[in-house]
Amino acid sequence: MRISVMGLGYVGAVAAACLAKDGHEVIGVDPQQTKVDLINAGQTPIIEKDIGEIIAEQVAAGHLVATTDVKSAVAATDLSLVCVGTPSLGNGHIDLKYVRRVCEQIGEGLPDHRGHTVVLSSSALTIHAEPVARFLEIGHVLCNHFDVDAAGRLTGEITKPVIWGRQKAAAVQQFCAAGTVDLTRSYFYADGDEDAALMKLVGFPRPVNPRRGLAAAAAEHDWPVLRMSPTGRGFLGCRRSVLK
Ligand SMILES: NC(=O)c1ccc[n+]([C@@H]2O[C@H](COP(=O)([O-])OP(=O)(O)OC[C@H]3O[C@@H](n4cnc5c(N)ncnc54)[C@H](O)[C@@H]3O)[C@@H](O)[C@H]2O)c1
Repeated sequence: MRISVMGLGYVGAVAAACLAKDGHEVIGVDPQQTKVDLINAGQTPIIEKDIGEIIAEQVAAGHLVATTDVKSAVAATDLSLVCVGTPSLGNGHIDLKYVRRVCEQIGEGLPDHRGHTVVLSSSALTIHAEPVARFLEIGHVLCNHFDVDAAGRLTGEITKPVIWGRQKAAAVQQFCAAGTVDLTRSYFYADGDEDAALMKLVGFPRPVNPRRGLAAAAAEHDWPVLRMSPTGRGFLGCRRSVLK
């Protein structure tokens, strides 16, 4: 997941570094340029056991960057964690001015937040894939089509190239290029052996209950494997667990 961490003090710097170590893409934000420069140079702005090594590793791997710009960080991430200071006032109350300010800044960045583009890419035909996409409210469907002749009559053939394996990967690549969707920031969930082609192109491959060939590819490339089991009996039980 893409996460922005607001505030790079004791809590924020540790959260940002450890989330990056856990495989997330993290943008740390702080108005103090010195803290931002230190992190981008792979150095720690705080004193905490092992934090220097973790920050150095994660910055070098490109999983952790820092900026002073809240707005751009909000626009580029899916979740923002607020870790700004909440000092005590003279009367013993909490001073919430930093919290208020960062919340205003997050609000300013939200209109630029693009959200997710969800695509159903399937080797099924339109008659199968499109109703499923409608049911799941998925706006983009890349699937196989029935061929028609010049008079608009069905020929009995499927439009070539058939969307499957490498062709499915090519169709998704084409869709992403046209819509400026970054495949290296995308997730792909599938179970088929032929889906290894697209798994290799995305930043976050996620085989789900993979068949033997895809499971072998997942082991080879160290892709995290997701497993789902039916919660009920028979077909309806499976469907419920998939749609949950
Ligand atoms: N440090 C601890 O051990 C600890 C433990 C439990 C809870 N907390 C709580 O966690 C919160 C953060 O504590 P901390 O110790 O990390 O504070 P800190 O003072 O070390 O860091 C706060 C950071 O927030 C930054 N900041 C201020 N305004 C900002 C803005 N608009 N956008 C982005 N960054 C901004 C500051 O420049 C600073 O670097 C506080 O509410 C604190 O009470 C801290």
